[in-house]
Amino acid sequence: MVRYNFPKYKIELEISKDVYYPEEDSFLLLDSVELMEDFQLLLEIGGGSGIISIALARNNPKLRCIITDISLSATKTMRRNSELNNLNDRIDIVCMDKMHALRYFCPDIIVWNPPYLPLEEVTESFSNEDRRILFGGREGHEEAYELFDYLKQNGIRTNFYTLFSSLAWDKSKLHELENKGFSIQIIGERKFFFEKIYSIKSKLSDSDV
Ligand SMILES: C[S@@+](CC[C@H](N)C(=O)[O-])C[C@H]1O[C@@H](n2cnc3c(N)ncnc32)[C@H](O)[C@@H]1O
Repeated sequence: MVRYNFPKYKIELEISKDVYYPEEDSFLLLDSVELMEDFQLLLEIGGGSGIISIALARNNPKLRCIITDISLSATKTMRRNSELNNLNDRIDIVCMDKMHALRYFCPDIIVWNPPYLPLEEVTESFSNEDRRILFGGREGHEEAYELFDYLKQNGIRTNFYTLFSSLAWDKSKLHELENKGFSIQIIGERKFFFEKIYSIKSKLSDSDV
């Protein structure tokens, strides 16, 4: 376990080797999230080290967060990190697949930096843990799409922020999410030499049930 300082967000995090170390995708999503003044409850899926919720809670004293992760090691890491940043009275952490034990739960905002790499990018050198953190399905966007379907099935009409990579998704696929009944906006992009990452703001449309 190594302790790291993230001065831009005024937080420290302890991160073990089997937990995702915050990268450009984490920072893009974190910087894209718009918190309205009346937002009280944020649900983050796949929190990893906890960086996104911890930074948002640190800078928004009224915000409460629930964070899920499918990795037990990540949930233990987030518990330690919320204590380290004196936020354990406002952050609850649970080991869960996405938000599957929270049907009909409608927080003010949902955030997820999902695994988004396609099968072809995942070589044998990846450990099982790395695969779970990074691999989003055959095409790469299946994990994120599954959550869109879940929000629709359960009528969860809230602001949902997520990411897609150009290795698995491009703007021509926006209509696939619109066809599921969501209004979608690309609110940020970051280009690396081999890929582009898009941050997306979405909400199930009022007309859709
Ligand atoms: C790309 S990492 C993002 C971590 C952190 N939110 C960040 O931005 O630095 C994806 C995280 O999602 C978690 N994850 C993968 N599949 C999940 C699922 N079905 N339900 C909940 N968490 C999941 C992984 O364990 C990992 O911590």
